[in-house]
Amino acid sequence: MRAIVASGELVAALRAERCAGASIGFVPTMGALHAGHTALVEAARQRHDLVVVSIFVNPLQFDRADDLERYPRDLGRDLDAAAGAGVDVCFAPSTDEMYPCGEPVVRVCAGALGAVLEGASRPGHFDGVATVVSKLLALVSPDAAYFGEKDYQQLVVVRRMVADLSLPVEVVGCPTVRERDGLAMSSRNSRLAPEERRAATVVHRALQAGRDAVIAGSPLDEVIATMARTVGEEPRASLDYARVVTPQLGVPQGPLSRPLRLLVAAWVGQVRLIDNLEVVP
Ligand code: PAF
Repeated sequence: MRAIVASGELVAALRAERCAGASIGFVPTMGALHAGHTALVEAARQRHDLVVVSIFVNPLQFDRADDLERYPRDLGRDLDAAAGAGVDVCFAPSTDEMYPCGEPVVRVCAGALGAVLEGASRPGHFDGVATVVSKLLALVSPDAAYFGEKDYQQLVVVRRMVADLSLPVEVVGCPTVRERDGLAMSSRNSRLAPEERRAATVVHRALQAGRDAVIAGSPLDEVIATMARTVGEEPRASLDYARVVTPQLGVPQGPLSRPLRLLVAAWVGQVRLIDNLEVVP
């Protein structure tokens, strides 16, 4: 695996590969690589000659300084994990390399899609995501970019950005990878104390209870109440939001008709967890 920190070197290396006819699959990450990331690399590996992973903790998408500070960082471990997963090129720029003029003045705005759900709890988050993802896509110029469904709203925002800005890349969404007890893989899980780790399974249980309620024909407010009640039963967890949305994040109107996405965000100790579940027809 080739590790690159300079964007000029990345652009030159990938241009050479593209000229030689290689197809490029890209997996953007913020590091702290886990099995969820490995699954994205595997999905890319199946379709492309070259798999590029980026590791960059993007300050623009953090609304709280303490959250940015505490985000897990271990580049040595991540490079080993990326090499082990079969990554060909790992791009790990510094903040100055990514934002050479300092705080960017021109940014990508996620608009209404970025103002709801996660965006309501974390103002500016999706503008930060959209801005860095558009920069990474410009540098890597991949044929396809791979994102986990775990961050469902992010996937919707990125798809819409790619469509609205006519970016020549395919966006591939990959299923959430879970621990055996249902907890969605996340870099933040490493910050859970053992008791909190056990309590964190409530997020997935709440989503399952919500899905059961949809399947049983419950109306929207009852489905939401079911998810909220399930989280409320776990003393170490506190609910941020429980929602039911259409695939494009709209509020369902009238009797619930599928497909739907159920989303839950909850605090367990100092760690904010998000997860979602699709309810198919
Ligand atoms: O999902 C993530 O890890 C980040 O939001 C991303 C897409 C790498 C942008 O910083």
